[in-house]
Amino acid sequence: MTATTGTHGRAEVAERTLRTDRWWLPPLLTFAGLTTFVIYGVVRAFMNDNYWKAEYHYLAPFYSPCLSEACQPGASHFGQWFPDLGPLITPPLFVLPFVLGFRLTCYYYRKAYYRAFWLSPPACAVAEPHKRYTGETRFPLVAQNLHRYFFYSAIPIASILTYDAVIAFHGKDGGIGVGLGTLILVVNAVLIWAYTLSCHSCRHLVGGRLKHFSRHPVRYWMWTQISKLNARHMQLAWFSLFSVGLADLYVALVASGTITDLRFFN
Ligand code: FES
Repeated sequence: MTATTGTHGRAEVAERTLRTDRWWLPPLLTFAGLTTFVIYGVVRAFMNDNYWKAEYHYLAPFYSPCLSEACQPGASHFGQWFPDLGPLITPPLFVLPFVLGFRLTCYYYRKAYYRAFWLSPPACAVAEPHKRYTGETRFPLVAQNLHRYFFYSAIPIASILTYDAVIAFHGKDGGIGVGLGTLILVVNAVLIWAYTLSCHSCRHLVGGRLKHFSRHPVRYWMWTQISKLNARHMQLAWFSLFSVGLADLYVALVASGTITDLRFFN
């Protein structure tokens, strides 16, 4: 394998790469991180249990919103839109296409998994194993252009996770209560919002196609704030992925009785 492009006028380099640093480390860590998350997600999606702790009103993010008649009593805050379709069609599967669609078509994750899973290319100035490059112009990758529409679905999902965080301020004796689970769900909602609002599509929606910022001071202000978040989009992608997994795991452990929620108040 050589690094030559075969293009007339381009240098032909015999080595696959001339880089001597640990260029393989970021794609390796990305591969490990995303694979771990996918395995956890699949296990949780089909576990179909331990997602609702009625005592504290904790709902695991992977099961939110819980829209199926198969949902545990009290877990469906927005109604039960779908019938119980058996153990293979669990409640998360009704929401998963939107959540996954948003993450999978995200500009940052595209870069991340193209590098880590397709090695296309694995890093800058490292030759890829593929002979042809077709970009995102044909099926299935042309579907990446749906990202802006998945962004619209991400807004209600972030709102629902915020609602879940608010109702998690529920005490075991009724009234208001605060536990470690409450704080974890609040932090998760904040990070999900930060990731969603830092989206490139959101930035374009708010401030794109404007000819004169001076005539749209509110949109300009919003655009500058979103631009600051957008500069941290990669970090927010990882932090929010980690927080949603951690929040889900914490609620699962509490709901299953494996651990006891650390209560600060009621
Ligand atoms: S670009 Fe990453 S969520 Fe839109």
